[in-house]
Amino acid sequence: MANPMLPTRTDSVPFFNDYLNYRRDPLQFWLDSGEVASISRVKLGPSREFILVTDADLAQHILQKKARIYIRERQLMTLNRMGGPELMFNTDNWDEWLWRRRLMQPGFHRKQIEGFATAMVTETNALIAELPRGAQFDLQHAMKTLTMRIIARTMFSVTDRFETDQLQDAFEVGSEVVFKRASAIWAPPLWTRTPLIQRGLAARQVRDKFLSRIVKDRYASQQPQGDLLDTLIEARLEEGQQFTADQLIGEMGGIVFAGHDTTALTLSWLFYLLEQHPAALEKVLSEIEAVLGDRNATLADLEHMPFTEMVVKEALRLYPPVYLTIREADEDDQFGALKINKGDSLVLNIRGLQQSKLYWDNPKAFDPERFSPERSQDRHKFAWVPFIDGPRKCMGDTFAMMEMRLIVPTVLQQLSLRYVGTVPKQPEPGFVMGAQDGMEMLAEDRG
Ligand code: HEM
Repeated sequence: MANPMLPTRTDSVPFFNDYLNYRRDPLQFWLDSGEVASISRVKLGPSREFILVTDADLAQHILQKKARIYIRERQLMTLNRMGGPELMFNTDNWDEWLWRRRLMQPGFHRKQIEGFATAMVTETNALIAELPRGAQFDLQHAMKTLTMRIIARTMFSVTDRFETDQLQDAFEVGSEVVFKRASAIWAPPLWTRTPLIQRGLAARQVRDKFLSRIVKDRYASQQPQGDLLDTLIEARLEEGQQFTADQLIGEMGGIVFAGHDTTALTLSWLFYLLEQHPAALEKVLSEIEAVLGDRNATLADLEHMPFTEMVVKEALRLYPPVYLTIREADEDDQFGALKINKGDSLVLNIRGLQQSKLYWDNPKAFDPERFSPERSQDRHKFAWVPFIDGPRKCMGDTFAMMEMRLIVPTVLQQLSLRYVGTVPKQPEPGFVMGAQDGMEMLAEDRG
């Protein structure tokens, strides 16, 4: 049981404790609970209890200084795997995680990733050409289509639209099922084969069949394509360890899962924020005009577009797609006066930290300039952690930042986007944080 001395909410009820508040509005629940105190206690139902961490020092302690003993929570990882294999992304075992991460890391080195810049811009131009003009469409869905195409092309050189759409649907169902099970007061075991479980397993079958064909064809053809899959097939540790084909199929699924919705949802919020803040939009447009004019963005341009980068960071601060993560203490530990017991679960309140008055002026306001070097220098390193930090930091952070910084100018050079929803857009809880009912936009060619 988490430390009983920690502050709690005052509106809990018997048996359910904080669960009813959580169910009413999960995202607001984590923000409000983080305001009770920077370290507090939350209880969802009779048995799910957490230490809620909205404190940058404790976040650093868990994610970096003592990362070895704060594993990914066992219960959540079991739900996440849905009876499937252990992967780098979903293992709670440090040693299992480490050899996989070491094998994959070279594939994500800056040099390797930089080679994908042209493909990212080409795919964005293709999507822009397909979008309707003057008719409402869902920008969030469009961004998911785009980031799925980018990851399929850069990871395993698949460009077939029908296949990437199918894969996108399968991942969408998969993440919905995992989130529903993880946020239920009790998740039925897999053998009960409830309709929800059956949907999740069917989606996984579609995904695995697709990825299995890609990997097996590549092994059979022996023809390198210069993509991430080649790097992962060739990766070998000094100790001789390398991935088997089956392991690769699973790991690729994990990477596609981790790497497409996250960037898509951030981009969708970013375009919404710019539409709502014309002065910031003007500033981005001036930067694009000064650096690019009408030509395509390249990797070399990015360093000359600091304001665009600030806008991406600010969108990630206000709407971090991974709004929390959970760790489990694998040993007893002490943080100042706080005793943490082996088995305690800790929710790292990423969105709460990024909007905490302790670390940010006017935290709810959209203000990209807060990421200028001058205004960033005194900020706690763990107050902005959309990719977390420490050894288990997102492996695709360089990929994602480059992708978003290329997509933003490419879209805005060509399109003017207008939000046509009737109410201010609210976030929607899920495995990652999207927008309720998508993002209704109207696009016009920029004259
Ligand atoms: C805006 C975009 C993204 C955000 C905000 C994001 C955020 C995160 C976060 C918070 C984690 C840590 C999860 C945890 O340990 O609890 C993570 C892990 C991971 N991410 Fe990302 N991610 C993004 C894009 C990507 C992309 C594009 C890729 C791949 C191309 C990717 C691949 C991964 C992988 C493989 C891990 C697992 C790392 C490990 O366990 O060692 N991510 N991401």
